[in-house]
Amino acid sequence: MSSTPAAASPQSGSPQTGSFVIGRVVHLAVVAALGGFLFGFDTSVINGAVDAMADEWATPALLTGFMVSSALLGCMAGAALAGRISARMGRVRVMLIAAVLFTVSSVGSALAFGPTDLIIWRIIGGLGVGAASVIAPAYIAEISPAAVRGRLGSLQQLAIVLGIFAALMCDAALAGAAGGAAEVLWFGLPAWRWMFLTEVVPAVVYGILALTIPESPRYLVQQGREEEATRVLSEIFVEGVEVRIQEIRRTVVTETTPSFRDILTPSKTNLQPIVWVGIVLSVFQQFVGINVIFYYSTTLWRSVGFTESDALTITVITSVTNIVVTVLAIALIDRIGRRKLLTIGSAGMTVSLGLMTAAFSIGRDPAITDTVMLLPGWDLTALVAANAFVVFFGMSWGPGVWVLLGEMFNNRIRAIALGIAAAAQWLANFLISTTFPSMAEVGLWFAYGFYTIAAFASFLFVWKFVRETNGVELEDMR
Ligand code: GLC
Repeated sequence: MSSTPAAASPQSGSPQTGSFVIGRVVHLAVVAALGGFLFGFDTSVINGAVDAMADEWATPALLTGFMVSSALLGCMAGAALAGRISARMGRVRVMLIAAVLFTVSSVGSALAFGPTDLIIWRIIGGLGVGAASVIAPAYIAEISPAAVRGRLGSLQQLAIVLGIFAALMCDAALAGAAGGAAEVLWFGLPAWRWMFLTEVVPAVVYGILALTIPESPRYLVQQGREEEATRVLSEIFVEGVEVRIQEIRRTVVTETTPSFRDILTPSKTNLQPIVWVGIVLSVFQQFVGINVIFYYSTTLWRSVGFTESDALTITVITSVTNIVVTVLAIALIDRIGRRKLLTIGSAGMTVSLGLMTAAFSIGRDPAITDTVMLLPGWDLTALVAANAFVVFFGMSWGPGVWVLLGEMFNNRIRAIALGIAAAAQWLANFLISTTFPSMAEVGLWFAYGFYTIAAFASFLFVWKFVRETNGVELEDMR
């Protein structure tokens, strides 16, 4: 490995081991991870509504696309702001703010008068998603014993993929009950409006449960509230609480909270390289094109010759696959470590994306020119490769990047650096999802060729720049 920026190295003196109360840490981690459920639900729920909205308001294609992608801009701002706000006001307050944003946005979107109105409500929801995406990994890493931190951190990804799946199912059920997303369901409102409204339920549950969990001990020490921090740590650890408090104090005590500029300028704090590692990890997680599979799957599978109902079945299969492999990641991440998991994932994604690129180029039926029709054999190859891609992503980069972002920064900069890296991830997500339709116009092989190159580059990046954080105490992150 090179001598480049680094995540961590174990040090003597840190409380590496020690018994903990597993029920309590799982409880805290699950509540924080619920933010991930809303993240997955909110970003996917619009898929079932978009065609009906576009018809009702007769929106042109570009505006329709923006109604979907505008939320991602809110996510970006939400992530960047949540880092700063949580450094000042605490992690739990940010969860409460996010819960309010989700609730308001879901009611607002459901009752929107037209596209502009809807875009504003979606951006407000996006602020909540961005905030939740930062606060879940930070909080979970900060309350977790090092030995199980990867597993607990991966609960956020499990919640995200469950949220994606739940939105898909709600959309299908509501459209089914009304006889179509555009048809009136209850109280004179069409089914697509009910799709948005269902989010109120998980949003309110998240807000209520967030009220039941304590503030992060790392944040409390930073605020000079050591007695409270001791109480929280005593609920988690059976022994060694005093040593932990001292260790945290050693790493957080500084005169001022660093600003964005402090963190991005190496001359001031020498912290820049690790923040860049976080940003690049985030960008690669999106540049491999995972969300194209989720946001455009029905369109993709229909365009290569599957019927609409086949395409829906495939989408459901892909979502379930994603859930199952996240469980596999939970089993592996603290055993084989983050680096190995990410490199295996990158290798697998490179091969599976490469196969999809081949299917969309040499596997095309040359006799059909107005659309992409795959030759027999190649259609199955594309389908298997797409699901293999989801398997490799879901067992590695999906949870792995969120876990790393939660734990790789030192206590002093964590909240703000994680906010910056997550904002970069939402920007990358926005770029990939808005460019897909134009790339696909050049050819699906072109889009997938790009994702294949990104997957290969992600392998090289991890191999050269990412250091193992498995089992290392947060106090020993450099
Ligand atoms: C990760 C990504 C997210 C994606 C999800 C799919 O959480 O950050 O953008 O939708 O994985 O599994």
